[in-house]
Amino acid sequence: MPFNPDDDENIRKAKQRFSIIGNNPAFLAAIDRAMKVAPIDLSVLVTGESGAGKEFFPKIIHNFGARKHKKYIAVNCGAIPEGTIDSELFGHEKGSFTGALSARKGYFEEADGGTVFLDEVAELPLTTQARLLRVLETGEFLKVGSSTVQKTDIRIVAATNVDLIKAVEKGKFREDLYYRLSTVVITVPPLRERGEDIILLARKFAADFSEKYLTAPITLSDDARRAMMLYRWPGNVRQLKNIVEQLALFDAGSEISRRTILEALPSGEDLFKTPAIAHPEHSYEREREFLWQSLLSIKAELSELKKELHHGEQPVRNYPRGAKTPTSLIKYNADDADDTFCTPLVIDDGDTPGDTETPISLEESERETIAAALRQNDGDKKKTAAQLDISLRTLYRKIRELGLTQ
Ligand SMILES: Nc1ncnc2c1ncn2[C@@H]1O[C@H](COP(=O)(O)OP(=O)(O)OP(=O)(O)O)[C@@H](O)[C@H]1O
Ligand SMILES: [Mg+2]
Repeated sequence: MPFNPDDDENIRKAKQRFSIIGNNPAFLAAIDRAMKVAPIDLSVLVTGESGAGKEFFPKIIHNFGARKHKKYIAVNCGAIPEGTIDSELFGHEKGSFTGALSARKGYFEEADGGTVFLDEVAELPLTTQARLLRVLETGEFLKVGSSTVQKTDIRIVAATNVDLIKAVEKGKFREDLYYRLSTVVITVPPLRERGEDIILLARKFAADFSEKYLTAPITLSDDARRAMMLYRWPGNVRQLKNIVEQLALFDAGSEISRRTILEALPSGEDLFKTPAIAHPEHSYEREREFLWQSLLSIKAELSELKKELHHGEQPVRNYPRGAKTPTSLIKYNADDADDTFCTPLVIDDGDTPGDTETPISLEESERETIAAALRQNDGDKKKTAAQLDISLRTLYRKIRELGLTQ
């Protein structure tokens, strides 16, 4: 996403102020959005997976907004017991419950004029949500045990890693509060979608931890970097930080190999974008085999699609609904649809007598595979290389050799 120079300057300021690492366009767009909304007194909802880095955003909004000289209070709604949360947020009067020996101001009163960051906002009990809605709509609240309406002027930034719309559907989150909070939504992309940022962050954390523990710095081998780029990082930046911390301590001074990374990462086929990489014992031969198999299956699909395009009037074969047919090859004939059968246009499976199609050469199949992957990734070479599980350099070489347009 292109930014104008002012945006760039704003993003740079925010990154510098909070030591934020990353150049991924979607991530920068989130920072840009926070900088743009900062001077406007609107509620903001920050969403994103756990560990993605949501906590920088309320700070950016507060520090680059008009309330920067007033208080900033961060409240983790999930960490406060249900029985005391109203008192923590709104305060209480002396004697309002057992143990309320004196009156106490709540965060909303303390932060008057400033910003309250409600982290894990989905964890708020429904009764507290009703009180919060009132503050947001009118600035009014009641202390626990008091009938005197008080006023406060606060800006709310909330964050969540749960799907609030689903929470609304389940009756766990008030719909009116959801709309009120989500005037502006900032979405922090998951780490696995941030490409090279994974390596930038790993380098930064490695340097920070070796400084903290006074250990010799670690470096990452090319293979280790590649494995990290293919990992799905379910715990996002927090997980990366923890892993780099361990490596910085226990492998100080060494170049981290792919094996070391794979051993440090929780394993599981679905945790890698390329399943074969999940096995530490996995060799390049197996990886090549995996790539080869992928090429062959894409090739088969492509050649079938070609046939389908060239010989439009093939005999039609019925498949029971739900039968296993390659979905990309099925075209339903709406007129023939009934409850029991769907009628895909038939795909020549090669058994048809007189099939004289020349087999596709390996080079042609490679060209088609790479071209298809490039199209699928809108020409993004990094993503394409990751999808095909080849290095970026190999992809560029292939593009040249196969005469593909860039
Ligand atoms: N882009 C980044 N640059 C530097 N450090 C980062 C970045 N993103 C996240 N971190 C670090 O990763 C850790 C996790 O980030 P953070 O606490 O903001 O996650 P979160 O999205 O709030 O997760 P949760 O939903 O679990 O609260 C923090 O230590 C944070 O400083
Ligand atoms: Mg958080």
